[in-house]
Amino acid sequence: MATTRNPAGIFPLLCLLAFCLVTSVAGGVERDELGKVIRTIPPNGPPERYGDVVLRKKSKKAGMPPVVFPHWAHRARYTCRVCHFELQFSARRDDTGITRSAYLAGRYCGACHDGNTAFTVRDKEPRQCERCHLKSRESLDDRFAAFAAGLPGADFGNGIDWAGALNSGAIRPINTLSGNYTPLPLPDNLKKPLKLGTTSPNSDVTFSHEEHYAELDCSSCHPEVFNIKKKGTEAFSMDSNIFGRFCGTCHMRVAFPMNDCHRCHPGISSSFGR
Ligand code: HEC
Ligand code: HEC
Ligand code: HEC
Ligand code: HEC
Ligand code: HEC
Ligand code: HEC
Repeated sequence: MATTRNPAGIFPLLCLLAFCLVTSVAGGVERDELGKVIRTIPPNGPPERYGDVVLRKKSKKAGMPPVVFPHWAHRARYTCRVCHFELQFSARRDDTGITRSAYLAGRYCGACHDGNTAFTVRDKEPRQCERCHLKSRESLDDRFAAFAAGLPGADFGNGIDWAGALNSGAIRPINTLSGNYTPLPLPDNLKKPLKLGTTSPNSDVTFSHEEHYAELDCSSCHPEVFNIKKKGTEAFSMDSNIFGRFCGTCHMRVAFPMNDCHRCHPGISSSFGR
């Protein structure tokens, strides 16, 4: 098994594993028996809700139920690029400033929810307001079950192996709505996976630009999330990954979460934390 390749690397991995087993129930910051602060990975939660963004600020003020944006309902059709690059949605919750007047003018959700590409935001019969402004999750959850049944499984996140689905062609998301944009080819010098190891020299984690560029634009990660210089990203540890920075920017919220150790650490054979 892969763990025997790198004996020096296993020790700290197993230590963290033991801590997490003890404390993974609630997630967040806890103390061990000596009073030292340890951070734990939050439990996964229901797969049908993983990656949902709930927007309530403006809705609440207007007396409307909160909006639920489910990533799973969009990822099979569109790459992250379409929304987070072309349509300029922020990848931070509540940061875009989506308003009804903006989406009625064809921006944001209104770029697709126009009655042609997807059900409409407009006030005309049949009114579809409640498919976004959700009073109850039931029918959305039912749709998820039917959707996920057709795709390869995973242990965490949505319970869907999104990378596998993309690579096998089970999903074929498009890269642009306007059709007149093709991503530039990935530069040759980025084709080889990078070996990480800033905070732990024995780290078994590699990072593939190719795999990420399949769905994301460079600007989703550089310069805000990662320094463009290899090993230039400071304090690049598991702790900061878990708390929504670096890899955790996506791998705690939309892409498979940090609970799924072995997908990043081939040397760790098991995953846990549901
Ligand atoms: C159909 C549009 C759409 C697609 C496709 C899409 N997103 Fe998003 N994403 C959104 C919206 C809308 C938000 C919420 C923005 C806001 O609140 O201002 C969001 C928020 C996020 C957030 C923050 C979530 C949080 O809980 O804080 C992350 C991370 C993210 N997206 C990553 C991705 C990744 C990675 C992909 C591709 C696998 C992707 N998105 C595909 C529309 C999209
Ligand atoms: C790039 C195009 C695109 C954008 C942008 C987009 N959507 Fe969608 N959305 C779709 C498509 C296509 C579907 C599937 C449509 C269908 O079943 O009629 C969908 C489905 C949904 C669903 C599932 C509802 C159900 O009943 O099945 C919800 C909820 C939703 N979108 C909310 C939103 C919100 C909120 C936004 C903006 C924050 C948004 N969408 C932005 C294309 C888009
Ligand atoms: C495709 C998804 C979608 C549909 C369909 C939709 N909305 Fe919204 N709506 C949003 C989003 C996203 C926001 C911003 C949510 C927030 O920040 O609370 C919003 C906000 C609002 C607001 C808050 C005020 C403002 O200016 O932003 C009102 C009022 C509103 N919607 C009314 C409606 C009505 C009425 C309908 C049906 C005719 C409707 N919406 C259909 C996504 C949708
Ligand atoms: C999305 C990818 C990803 C997942 C999933 C992941 N890790 Fe990590 N892990 C990293 C990265 C990146 C580093 C930092 C590597 C470096 O030193 O540059 C790291 C570092 C570590 C370290 C070294 C000490 C430290 O804090 O830097 C340990 C131990 C570790 N991970 C354990 C785990 C365990 C246990 C899990 C599952 C619960 C896990 N990791 C899941 C990416 C991941
Ligand atoms: C999903 C996130 C992500 C995306 C998307 C991404 N990168 Fe990176 N990039 C990284 C990470 C992580 C590193 C390593 C940072 C470190 O070690 O501190 C890196 C490192 C680099 C480096 C330094 C490589 C080396 O060998 O020194 C360059 C150059 C770079 N990226 C360019 C790009 C370009 C150009 C694109 C778009 C084609 C891109 N990146 C897309 C995450 C990303
Ligand atoms: C901007 C968002 C983003 C960031 C940041 C990011 N990833 Fe990813 N990553 C994704 C998406 C989206 C996928 C596709 C799979 C999924 O959604 O579950 C993916 C896939 C992967 C895969 C492929 C898994 C497989 O089974 O093929 C690995 C490994 C991975 N990421 C590791 C990392 C590591 C390590 C980092 C930090 C150095 C990182 N990622 C940072 C979005 C991101």
